[in-house]
Amino acid sequence: MSAIRSRARETDLRLAQGLHSFAWSFTDCAVGREMDITEPRIQREEILILLDDDFNSGNVCIVTGAGTGIGRATAVVSAANNLMTVGLDINAEEGEKTRQMAQELGGQMLFIKTDLANDREVEKAVAKAASLGAIKYLANIAGMQHINAIEDFPMEKYDLMQKVMLRAPFYLSKLTIPHMKRSADGRGVIANMASAHAHITTRNKPVYNITKFGLRALTQSISAEGAGLIRSFTVSTGFVKTPLALNQIPSQAAQRGITLDEVVREVMMGRSQVKEMMSPVEVANLFIFGFSRYARYLVGGDLLFDGGMVLTY
Ligand SMILES: NC(=O)c1ccc[n+]([C@@H]2O[C@H](COP(=O)([O-])OP(=O)(O)OC[C@H]3O[C@@H](n4cnc5c(N)ncnc54)[C@H](O)[C@@H]3O)[C@@H](O)[C@H]2O)c1
Repeated sequence: MSAIRSRARETDLRLAQGLHSFAWSFTDCAVGREMDITEPRIQREEILILLDDDFNSGNVCIVTGAGTGIGRATAVVSAANNLMTVGLDINAEEGEKTRQMAQELGGQMLFIKTDLANDREVEKAVAKAASLGAIKYLANIAGMQHINAIEDFPMEKYDLMQKVMLRAPFYLSKLTIPHMKRSADGRGVIANMASAHAHITTRNKPVYNITKFGLRALTQSISAEGAGLIRSFTVSTGFVKTPLALNQIPSQAAQRGITLDEVVREVMMGRSQVKEMMSPVEVANLFIFGFSRYARYLVGGDLLFDGGMVLTY
């Protein structure tokens, strides 16, 4: 028991070290008051562990964006739930840290450096994942943000965001659905990371909005063809403490002509009833719930966990 506790403490320590580079505080930016917006550590007790016979090491769960943030947390939670987890990301250094975190929690994870904008690399990653067991779960999480008005938006950024955030989820679905159908019970689940921006749009994020609305259409299309056997769902959150959210604060401030503090309080959390940003592991727990036997009727639906941003005023 004490060995387990000491392993848990070591894991927490390593997680802290891994996430240290993303620490970013408002005093660093001379805003004048302390506000903790650092990416939190994943604590073992925060992970939702579910009893599900399908959560075993013979079943493979592919997670994209496993390098940092929500993808990292989802890979760790998937491995902690006994799934043979395959993490894909372009960032090999961070991906390797995620693999170590999963392992230290007693889970199994393989990291494969993959550029999701490259079809050949995606195909190779799926083939490798299939060699480890039955591909039953896919979490499309990788993404990026670019803040610009439509008239100023660089078309090369448009193409990259489309490829990584919409085309890759489609291609991965196309490649993995046959594996799910060939598995013993012919079942599988595909989850897509959407956003409150799959429900509402805000200015200067046109391509982000387009890809997130598109993911809901992909999710519903998979479900329409899935006959209840291949399910799909989206996860939509407000702001989550990850590099993607934290890094956009300075450019939002510059483009709107407001302070960093005002960006967080008035732009990011302004419409949310819950004023604290969500943690990555809270989002990861939604993925594992959606994959589980408890979510049998989640077919094309959206898990909107946004602190009231979209549905209240
Ligand atoms: N953080 C938020 O507030 C928030 C809110 C709602 C939705 N989301 C969505 O969650 C998802 C994950 O974002 P996050 O906040 O964890 O950000 P993040 O920046 O921490 O993680 C994104 C990951 O995607 C990877 N990636 C980028 N381009 C890639 C490519 N070409 N090939 C492979 N991997 C690539 C990055 O290396 C990174 O590890 C995104 O789709 C994002 O839109 C985030």
